[in-house]
Amino acid sequence: MKKLQNILCIGAGYVGGPTMAMIAKKCPGRKVTVVDINAARIAAWKSDSLPFYEPGLREVVRDTIGKNLFFSTDIKSAVAEADVVFVAVNTPTKTFGQGAGRAADLQYWEKTAREIQDWATHDLVVVEKSTLPVRTATAMKRVLESGGSPYRFEVLSNPEFLAEGTAIADLENPDRVLVGSAETPEGLAAREAVVDIYAEWVPRDRILTTNVWSSELSKLAANAFLAQRISSVNALSELCEKTGADVTEVARAIGCDSRIGPKFLKAGVGFGGSCFKKDILNLVYLCESQGLGEAAAYWNSVVEMNAHQETRFVAGMLRAMFNTVAGKRVALLGYAFKADTSDTRETPAKVVADLLAEERADLVVCDPHALDNARVELAPHGDSVTFESDPYRAVAGADAVAVLTDWRQFAALDWRRVFDSMRKPAFLFDGRNCLDHKALFDIGFHVFAVGKAPMSHFD
Ligand code: UDX
Ligand code: UDX
Repeated sequence: MKKLQNILCIGAGYVGGPTMAMIAKKCPGRKVTVVDINAARIAAWKSDSLPFYEPGLREVVRDTIGKNLFFSTDIKSAVAEADVVFVAVNTPTKTFGQGAGRAADLQYWEKTAREIQDWATHDLVVVEKSTLPVRTATAMKRVLESGGSPYRFEVLSNPEFLAEGTAIADLENPDRVLVGSAETPEGLAAREAVVDIYAEWVPRDRILTTNVWSSELSKLAANAFLAQRISSVNALSELCEKTGADVTEVARAIGCDSRIGPKFLKAGVGFGGSCFKKDILNLVYLCESQGLGEAAAYWNSVVEMNAHQETRFVAGMLRAMFNTVAGKRVALLGYAFKADTSDTRETPAKVVADLLAEERADLVVCDPHALDNARVELAPHGDSVTFESDPYRAVAGADAVAVLTDWRQFAALDWRRVFDSMRKPAFLFDGRNCLDHKALFDIGFHVFAVGKAPMSHFD
């Protein structure tokens, strides 16, 4: 197979945009085009203010755009020119019909396959970048080759493992790149050609090749395992609060076992982000549809535990604040689903804000990069939620502060100044265990941290 010189990606989102920018940077000899139906998003990629905040992304785009990286809405000419098409359109959880609430909504993906078929002018390698149910590649091949198309389409799976906030480092130095293909001569040749793209900067021994189904399932499995570790440590956090054990100490103790390892053992208000919940529900649905009830229930419990962690965090706030927050000013520090991103999809902060608003708290939301999204998502609460980019103004006069995103700037606040500006008693709820609780207690706060005994001046 000839070198995949013209690379196209359909979908300029959190996955497609950064991944293609990195390929352009590392493969100066190839041309990379990213198309999207969203013209505003494409315009943002071409401007100084990218569609979302991601550390280091601006520099990579600046160095490549107009040289070998191009953004466009013209899918027709882009497909006609391409040697390989990566598909990174969204595959959200279905909200209607069979499998609603669990199965992946594949309408955008199928629409994209039909567009590729419509505009192809020669044989094409098509690569699934989006996370998809196992065996989607077969369905994609059927759509692509339906209606007597004169061209051959080889469908591969190459899931993306980057995490938001560290996308550039993850892309530059990935733990592994996974490329799955059919194990036919044509499939293996296409696989080698895709491997060659990554081999321009990733050591060969980190590029894994598998059959296409293993690749599709590995992406769901990786996210399910990561989320399962968080739900496990969060389940322990509740027990710690009841028994006087400290979840950070427990996590450190178990994480020192090289078989367990230290990562993804941080207890908190719950996991968010566009992937974990969606991908686990997708796995649950796949298990169910294969008649694997026990396996489905096992994975579903990871999501249930996460929902419980979010609601019990608010229940703990209420309990601490004499069972009422009505009319009290509560400052929420952080709204993004994690630090170093403006992304708020499935953020636990929204659940916390919704529940506190239902309790008629007077909320002020503060985040360095996610306030635009917060304004839209919390608009239904009207005047009971306000937005403030300056943390000191957000906390002034507050009865309580809840830290919901582990932005470094929150840990670095002058907490004495925060305390002095609050109404007393001053409550501090650390939903990310990112503050110095002993120091805060000594200042005078009543401190409630996930998985730790409360530190209250009342008893
Ligand atoms: C997406 C999927 O949600 C995820 O399952 C997968 O793992 C990677 O791709 P993300 O990049 O975060 O993740 O999604 P999003 O930011 O929503 O980007 C998808 C883009 O595809 C959007 O910009 C959307 O406009 C575009 N799109 C969607 C098309 O260009 N054409 C379509 O038909 C549908
Ligand atoms: C995840 C996967 O890590 C990535 O490989 C995949 O490609 C996409 O999904 P992402 O959702 O961007 O990436 O972020 P991640 O760092 O995994 O965090 C997800 C959520 O878990 C965040 O809300 C984070 O705060 C939370 N988390 C993470 C914890 O609560 N505790 C931890 O120990 C780690």
